[in-house]
Amino acid sequence: MKKDIIILGIETSCDETAVAFVKNGKEILANVVASQIEIHKRFGGVVPEIASRHHVEQITYVLDQAMQEAAVNWEDIDAIAVTEGPGLVGALLVGVNAAKAIAFAKHKPLIGVHHIAGHIYANRLEQEFEFPLLALIVSGGHTELVLMKEHGTYELIGETRDDAAGEAYDKVARMLNLPYPGGPQIDRLAESGKETIDFPRAWLEPDSYDFSFSGLKSSVINKIHNAKQRGEQLNSEDIAASFQASVVDVLTTKTVRAAKQYKVKQVIVAGGVAANKGLRNAMEREFSKLEIPLQIPPLHLCTDNAAMIAAAGTIAFEQGIRSTLELNARAALPLK
Ligand code: KG4
Ligand code: ZN
Repeated sequence: MKKDIIILGIETSCDETAVAFVKNGKEILANVVASQIEIHKRFGGVVPEIASRHHVEQITYVLDQAMQEAAVNWEDIDAIAVTEGPGLVGALLVGVNAAKAIAFAKHKPLIGVHHIAGHIYANRLEQEFEFPLLALIVSGGHTELVLMKEHGTYELIGETRDDAAGEAYDKVARMLNLPYPGGPQIDRLAESGKETIDFPRAWLEPDSYDFSFSGLKSSVINKIHNAKQRGEQLNSEDIAASFQASVVDVLTTKTVRAAKQYKVKQVIVAGGVAANKGLRNAMEREFSKLEIPLQIPPLHLCTDNAAMIAAAGTIAFEQGIRSTLELNARAALPLK
């Protein structure tokens, strides 16, 4: 009988200190996330220096808690998987150094994982993949369309040329005086608003799968400024609904077109913005028409966590991929 593979995952690329244990790439034994959202809220966004310091303070406690919850010993663990990038370099370094220290002290293999591969593999904790597979990754730092023909291979077919989708949400939310992170706030407002403003949609070149959200963001900001100058009262719910309609329209249309062109067998939406109700509804509606299975992870697996890093790390482990103790944090690591 094949032995179970247990991978320890560590994720510290932004403002979540996270440690998880995953069995055979699919079963979560523990998934502990210490969020710093409350700490960064008063600054209106993530302050990199503060994030790094909190990761240092939290990492050993989070590891201890995850180990207790998973009820595993060091002998049970096959490898340590850690996010090596992309992300905030000072934040990444805390996780990378923790992983290296454990790998060295416990004589375990070390595996560097790409953060986006992690977001994609969060879905395999729920359901097995079918290839070719198309993944839309939408988060605070990313907006990417990735084609996968088999496990562990990633072909980038489109990406944002400026702001990430989540970043646009957070910036527009700030203009509306909503607390950080703004995405869930706008999502909530949009539910009770109407699409009264026709904000632009950046389709770019007809065959492009790239995205652009900075024009939309500027258009929303101008609308708010102009209204203020004229002493007009704008309805925040309607601004949120109109902004969200533009984002969701572009994301859904391009994902549908790519899914058809590449004849994919499965579509995945991942990253923090995958929590968005408007996006979920539009995707579910469109892909049910096409009869292509669509998968969106449950909320706690949409946002940053370490189970997704352990899940992606399991595939790398099975494929014999190993990092050395030279592994370094890389703020702008390309997806390969
Ligand atoms: O994946 P994630 O936790 O961290 C990054 O890797 O960036 O994503 C965080 C982003 C933030 O920009 C947040 O505003 C956005 O995801 N977000 C949402 C929603 N929930 C989180 N955006 C729109 N609607 C939501 N419901
Ligand atoms: Zn993320």
